[in-house]
Amino acid sequence: PDRYLVVGHPVAHSKSPFIHAAFARQTGQSLSYDRLDLAPDDFESGLADFFALGGAGCNITVPYKERAAGFANRLTERAAFAGAVNTLWLGDEGLVGDNTDGVGLVRDLKRHLALRDRRVLLLGAGGAARGVLAPLLAEQPAQLVIANRSADKAAALAELAAGLGRVESCAYEALDGDFDLVINATSASLAGETLPLPEALFSQGGLAYDMMYGQAPTAFLRQAEQLGAAVRLDGLGMLVEQAAEAFRLWRGVQPDTAPVLLALRDSLG
Ligand code: ATR
Repeated sequence: PDRYLVVGHPVAHSKSPFIHAAFARQTGQSLSYDRLDLAPDDFESGLADFFALGGAGCNITVPYKERAAGFANRLTERAAFAGAVNTLWLGDEGLVGDNTDGVGLVRDLKRHLALRDRRVLLLGAGGAARGVLAPLLAEQPAQLVIANRSADKAAALAELAAGLGRVESCAYEALDGDFDLVINATSASLAGETLPLPEALFSQGGLAYDMMYGQAPTAFLRQAEQLGAAVRLDGLGMLVEQAAEAFRLWRGVQPDTAPVLLALRDSLG
């Protein structure tokens, strides 16, 4: 069977093998999908070995998405904009690097709300935020504001996306007005930290989305509940959707994500 991997450091807790095994069963595809932990000094050589030995494709996770973009021979347009790659495969002209995180987020969001003409706030201006910015803007929200602890980084990201739609930026303290959708793309939740967000952040029926996930609600989602967000979602759906898009690119078949998300949620306990 064709061989696939998820590469990261650490990677032991990655849910990708679970997700891709489920997609393969569901679609009758014959493939293997394993984890590979590569130390920082071994990333490029480890990847090169995998493909030299007949590997078909891989996903890339923390902390290597930017380095994977440098390793690919060709980047898709969305990967080039993201400056990061989460999906690689061997094409006719070498290694192709793509980024399916943004479409993964948008597809998961669209299960809950139409983004067109909505007021959207993106929290964070690091790699995770940049990775989803172009697909979000492609949905033509009425407004997209990037807020970040370092306002300079938010401004730089807004500048980068200026040609793609109406983007503004500010520091958390300068946030004003309410939003239909607030997406957390910071890593603050990882440290259990909350962001200094104003009281009137969510519009009536507003949705909070944390790109992170965990067994219990993240710090951001707990904060969003206190701020009155009507709907609160973690990033598990995005994880399954970005995997589905990678699977489609590799195998040419579109898996059904809903049952796999349910099974994954169950497995988290
Ligand atoms: P990632 O790839 O996860 O985006 P990153 O590029 O290092 O990682 O970006 C981390 C993001 O989380 C940044 O937006 C960072 O804010 P700064 O740019 O101001 O550093 C944000 N972040 C991380 N920890 C934070 C905290 N405790 N409070 C507020 N923002 C935090």
